[in-house]
Amino acid sequence: MNRPIKRAVIPAAGFGTRLLPATKSTPKEMLPIVDRPSIQYIVEEALESGIEDILIISGHAKRAIEDYFDSAPNLEMALEKSGKTDLLKLVRDTADIRVHYIRQRSMRGLGDAILTAKAFMAEEPFAVLLGDDVVYNPDKPAMKQLIEVYEEYGRSVLGCQKVPDEQVSSYGIVAGNKLDNHRILKVSDMVEKPAPAEAPSNMAVLGRYIITPAIFDILEHTKPGKGGEIQLTDALKVLAQQEAVFAYDFVGKRYDLGDKLGFLKAQVEFALRRDDLGSQFKEYLKELSAGGYDI
Ligand code: G1P
Repeated sequence: MNRPIKRAVIPAAGFGTRLLPATKSTPKEMLPIVDRPSIQYIVEEALESGIEDILIISGHAKRAIEDYFDSAPNLEMALEKSGKTDLLKLVRDTADIRVHYIRQRSMRGLGDAILTAKAFMAEEPFAVLLGDDVVYNPDKPAMKQLIEVYEEYGRSVLGCQKVPDEQVSSYGIVAGNKLDNHRILKVSDMVEKPAPAEAPSNMAVLGRYIITPAIFDILEHTKPGKGGEIQLTDALKVLAQQEAVFAYDFVGKRYDLGDKLGFLKAQVEFALRRDDLGSQFKEYLKELSAGGYDI
């Protein structure tokens, strides 16, 4: 029986430079998709996948994240007094989640951020969810899909999807051999953000990982790679030489929140899915489109 995955880490120390100037004073993880901070979608995915404790790797100017997952006595009192029970529940629910924090003191890359989680993970396999990647799948969350693969193989699992050639240089790319279940590859090679000519495939790691604790010793010895940063991809490549690592082509629609257009697409599509907003918003979009978007 493989050890269950109960802990997850969400790295959130980055500067969010691609969404400046908003991220000068607001953590990018707190920028809302409709009315919820994007990190809430990530945390909900983790909880719906059976994760019980979430470690957020925090950093400079990220206090708003801690306040968000905390109780807010004055606000709660005001909402209670005015009888706004629905809103009170929304505010209280986020404070019930078991969120823990550790600070990454220097920005030395994703691999370094994961290494700061070593003590918290206490020799257990763990999940990683990157805040830039929000995945919509109302039937089975992406992380739950990875956990099922982990339960079968007992080794690290990387959540992947195919990307077009011109995008391979934005991701960690994996190569490997397909198993009988064609959504699963046994990883033989990994490259962080390769030029299209050097990419071993189009399978990109899209912000979801289950990793065995052997990664920590490897990360301690991983030299800076692409961009001068300690890359998780480089450490996973070494791990794949020591023990099996699998890539799983997960099912779900993924949004890249690190990109302005991806962020806008998420706003529109999540708004259209909302019971309280969807039909009105759809009408509005139809009107805009009928007018040729001439605004
Ligand atoms: C990180 C990882 C990369 C992965 C990507 C997924 O890159 O280093 O391997 O494919 O996240 O979104 P970043 O986008 O943070 O530069």
